[in-house]
Amino acid sequence: MKKTWWKEAVVYQVYWRSFLDTDGDGYGDLEGVIRKLDYIKELGADVVWLNPCYGSPDVDNGYDISDYRSVMPKAGTMDTFERLLKEVHARGMKLIMDLVVNHTSDKHPWFIESRSSKDNPKRDYYIWRKEANNWRSYFTPSTWEYDEATEEYYFHSFAVEQPDLNWANPQVREEIYDMMRFWLDKGIDGFRMDVINLLAKQEGFPDAENPDDISYLGNNPGIHEYLHEMHDRVLKHYDVFTVGEIPFVTPEDGVLYVGEDRGELNTLFHFEVLDYMAHWDMKKFKEIQKRWYDGMWGKGWNSQFMNNHDHTRVVTRFGNDREYRVESAKCFATLTHTLPGMPYVYQGEEIGMTGVRYPSIDDYNDIALKNKYKEEVAKGRDPQEVFDSLLHLARDNSRTPMQWDESANSGFSEGDPWLKVNPNYSEINVKQALADRDSVFYYYQNLIRLRKENEVMVYGSYEPILEDHPQLYAYFRALGDEKWFVLLNISEQEVRAELPEEVASRLGETIVRNYHKADTLVLKPYEARVYRI
Ligand code: GLC
Repeated sequence: MKKTWWKEAVVYQVYWRSFLDTDGDGYGDLEGVIRKLDYIKELGADVVWLNPCYGSPDVDNGYDISDYRSVMPKAGTMDTFERLLKEVHARGMKLIMDLVVNHTSDKHPWFIESRSSKDNPKRDYYIWRKEANNWRSYFTPSTWEYDEATEEYYFHSFAVEQPDLNWANPQVREEIYDMMRFWLDKGIDGFRMDVINLLAKQEGFPDAENPDDISYLGNNPGIHEYLHEMHDRVLKHYDVFTVGEIPFVTPEDGVLYVGEDRGELNTLFHFEVLDYMAHWDMKKFKEIQKRWYDGMWGKGWNSQFMNNHDHTRVVTRFGNDREYRVESAKCFATLTHTLPGMPYVYQGEEIGMTGVRYPSIDDYNDIALKNKYKEEVAKGRDPQEVFDSLLHLARDNSRTPMQWDESANSGFSEGDPWLKVNPNYSEINVKQALADRDSVFYYYQNLIRLRKENEVMVYGSYEPILEDHPQLYAYFRALGDEKWFVLLNISEQEVRAELPEEVASRLGETIVRNYHKADTLVLKPYEARVYRI
C-alpha cells in the first residue's frame, strides 16, 4: 500500500466554541486555539480539524453558513485565522477545515435571492418543488418547507434554516470550487467534508416506503461524478488530505468514495458504530471492524473514532464514566489507536471527559435535541419521559466546555459559557492530567508516539481471534517481521483469557498496558494490553 503522510497522522478535533474563550463572550475562539496549540503538540497530534468558523447565524453551531469567505465574529477575524494557520504550521502540524457544502444558511445571500422570485437567477441554486414528498429530514418531520413568497417548497436535509444546495446546477459547483480554492490558497491542508455523500439527490423525489429510514438522503446517482469533478478541478492541484463524513455507507460503497484509484476522497467516516450502536455491543463492533477491514484493506483508507461533536463521549456511551472512567478511557484509546485506520481524538477525550445530565431541556442548546423534543411532546407524550429518553445520545454531551483546570468555569471562560461546564471539572481537567504521570493524557501521548515509531500500527494487517468472545477483543497487527497482539477486556468483570497455545507461548514484551501489573492472563475490568509477539 502506498505510504502517505496522512495515513500516518493522528487528528485532533477542535470544537473551537468549547475550547478556550479569550475575550469573555462565553464562546471559545480561534485566539484560544492558538494559545493551546502547544498543548495539542504535546499530545502528539499531527493534524488539527477545526469545526466550521465561517460567517453563520449559528442555528446549528456553524453548520449553517451565510458567508463562506469570512470568519464568524464569535470565533475571531480573518487575521486571527491566518495567525492560527501560521502557528499550526510553525509547530509542524497541519490544519484541516470543515467544508459544509450540502447546504447553506437560509440567510446566505444566494438563498435570499433564490427565494425572492421564481425567475431570480439564483432560483436554481436550491431545490424548489410544487409538492412535498413524505421524506423526513435529520432534524424535522419533513425535508420540505413551504415558502409563501413563491408558493413552493424548498428542500432541506437538516433544519428548516439549512436549505440544500442544488448540486445539479453547474454554477453552484463552480462557486463551491472557487470557495475551496480561496481557503486552499491560504495554505490549509485539507477538508473534513460535512455529509458529503448527500450532495446528489434522488431523481424525482419518490415517496419512501419507510420515511423513518432516512438513508434515501445519501449515496444517490451522480455523487461520484460530483466528487470526481471536485477532485479534478480543485483537490488534485494541492497536497491536501480529505475525509468525508459519509453516513449510510457499506464498505463496498466506501471504496467507491476513497479507493486509491478513484480520484475522489482520501478517507471517510462511516457511522456503522456511532449511528447504530447506542450502547456497547461487542459482537456487532467486531463484525463491523472485520467487514470494513476485509472490504477496504489495500484499496482505501479508513478512520477510527469513538466520539465527536455529534456523538456522546466514549467513556459515558461505551465505557464506564464512574469507577472505571480512567481504565475505560485508556481501553478505548488503545482500541482506536491500534485498529486499522487513522485515529481521531476529540477534544477532551484525551483527559477522559464525560457526558452530562442536566436537569432541564433549557440547560441544553442543540437544535437536533430541541427539535426532536418539541416534535415528540407535540404528539402528546410526557415531556419528562421524552427528555429522559433523549439524553443518552444528546449531542451536547460532547459539546460542553473543555475542562482546563479547577478555577471558575473550568478555566474555559471568564464570561458566561454558552453551554454549562460539566460539574465534574474540579476533578477532571487538563491541569490535573498533566500533573499525573498515570493520567489518560499521557496514555494517549504514548499511543501517539508509538504510532510514529512503529509502522505496524499504521500499515500492519489486522487479524482478529476469539471472535465470539463477549468480553475480550483480541487481534494481531503484523507488518514484515513485526507482529503485535492487542488484548482488551471491554467489560466490568475480571476475565481470564484462554488464548490458543501458539499465541500464549509467544507473548513477548508488553508494549502498552493500562494497569501496572500484567503478569497473568486474568484481565481486570477494561484492561488493555498490547504485546509484541
Ligand atoms: C454533520 C455535522 C453536524 C451538523 C450536520 C449538518 O453531521 O457533523 O454537526 O449538524 O452535519 O451540517
